[in-house]
Amino acid sequence: MSRKCVLAYRALPAEQMDRIRNEHEVVQADPRIPGQERAFLEALPQAQGLIGSSYAIGRELLDRAPRLEVISSISVGVDKYEPLELQRRGIMLCHTPGVLTETVADLLFGMVLATSRRIPELARLVEAGQWKANIGSDLFGWDVHGKTLGILGYGRIGHAVARRAALGFNMPVLYHSRSNVPSGLPDGCAKAVTRDELLAQSDFVVIVLPLTDETRGMLDADAFARMKPGAILVNGARGPIVREDALLDALDHGSLRAAALDVFDVEPLPLDSPLRGHPKILALPHAGSATHETRLAMAEMATSNLLLALRGETPLAAYRA
Ligand code: 8YV
Repeated sequence: MSRKCVLAYRALPAEQMDRIRNEHEVVQADPRIPGQERAFLEALPQAQGLIGSSYAIGRELLDRAPRLEVISSISVGVDKYEPLELQRRGIMLCHTPGVLTETVADLLFGMVLATSRRIPELARLVEAGQWKANIGSDLFGWDVHGKTLGILGYGRIGHAVARRAALGFNMPVLYHSRSNVPSGLPDGCAKAVTRDELLAQSDFVVIVLPLTDETRGMLDADAFARMKPGAILVNGARGPIVREDALLDALDHGSLRAAALDVFDVEPLPLDSPLRGHPKILALPHAGSATHETRLAMAEMATSNLLLALRGETPLAAYRA
């Protein structure tokens, strides 16, 4: 089989890079790193395979890559690409579903616990040497067990969050999904409802939706006004699903108790963002899948997807638009 040209636009573990080099010529250039953008653009015309993530590959870049056969994204989310346009150009898009499901669900549930029990604040209090006596009700949190957890989006990660909540924390689960999907849990544990029912009845609203034209801005002022007083929002999906201005208003002037965010409109979160350092917001640096085990599994799967696709074989996970 002929050796093809691969452009790796994100660092990969050495072992995965070796797997690719065994079969193909590899150029490594991350356009987000100062000084590497030119090498990235210069390598595009020869590139038959791309592997990376967190960088938008739109039509303008595709026009510079006439030999491109496959993009292997080191992510489950595909909002950095235009799947229909890739399909139209005959370019395969691969991604890494499944391998990160439990890891992301762990963090999302951690965000539910951290916000409701105010773990970061209490830890900061001790760190600052301000723990002088038994804490008073001004520092009390709110129970998680037994409260109603609402899940917007009910794919693999949504199911995994529901399982933790229902079977681990005795929480009634409500979920809303475009398609009519079974709960995947024992009877009575989880119920499919409309979006508005979920917003009105949930103590915690967890977002695990893909970013699409349909979901962009879904959590706007109207949605926040429908939420249960004292509810907590958790976004582990994509920033633009939540209108950040409406979120701030709901926290500062509405009845939203707190929010835990792992994703934002602009990432990394700009220093001057009003979300940063907000007393009712736990902000994390898009760490959903950031464990040693899972990032390695994602890199392995993305590398396999790339190699299989360049051989003309069926990859482990091709994204279907
Ligand atoms: C990725 C993610 O690490 O898989 C996804 O969709 O959001 C994360 O797991 C991120 O996209 C890479 O930047």
